[in-house]
Amino acid sequence: MIYLGADHGGYALKEAIKAHLTAQGIAVTDCGTYSTDSVDYAPIAKETCTRLLADSDKESLAILCCGTGIGISMAANKVHGIRAACCSDYFGAKYTRLHNNANVLCMGGRVIGVGLALELVDVFLHTPFEGGRHQRRIDQIADIEAQYRK
Ligand code: RB5
Repeated sequence: MIYLGADHGGYALKEAIKAHLTAQGIAVTDCGTYSTDSVDYAPIAKETCTRLLADSDKESLAILCCGTGIGISMAANKVHGIRAACCSDYFGAKYTRLHNNANVLCMGGRVIGVGLALELVDVFLHTPFEGGRHQRRIDQIADIEAQYRK
């Protein structure tokens, strides 16, 4: 399952991604927003990430869009267990899967065009985590998270 979320700044891009994935037969869950009306990105990030983490299928991933991709990625990364990467280039979208085991791709609907965004989506979804030494580094990130858990 691919979970999608966006604020008004990322709404159009989310819709394009949803159409792109659906056309490939990939199951999506749209966590909103559902129009171009102004809406805050943090609750959308929380809802989308919560649904992703509750999914028993550990192959599931999420894609979040806002105007820049930055605010929604900041919010997503506050959810324990989320590794959200804000990407606007192909190399980053590929290597954040290979090395960071990112489970959320964030993009800015006011930053990149739909064509590039869909390329980033495809490489993100089809690139596996490399593991090995990178697992140790991800564990270190989780350790920091645990230290600050109330
Ligand atoms: C909304 O205007 C905009 O601030 C938001 O979409 C995002 O870019 C924040 O990081």
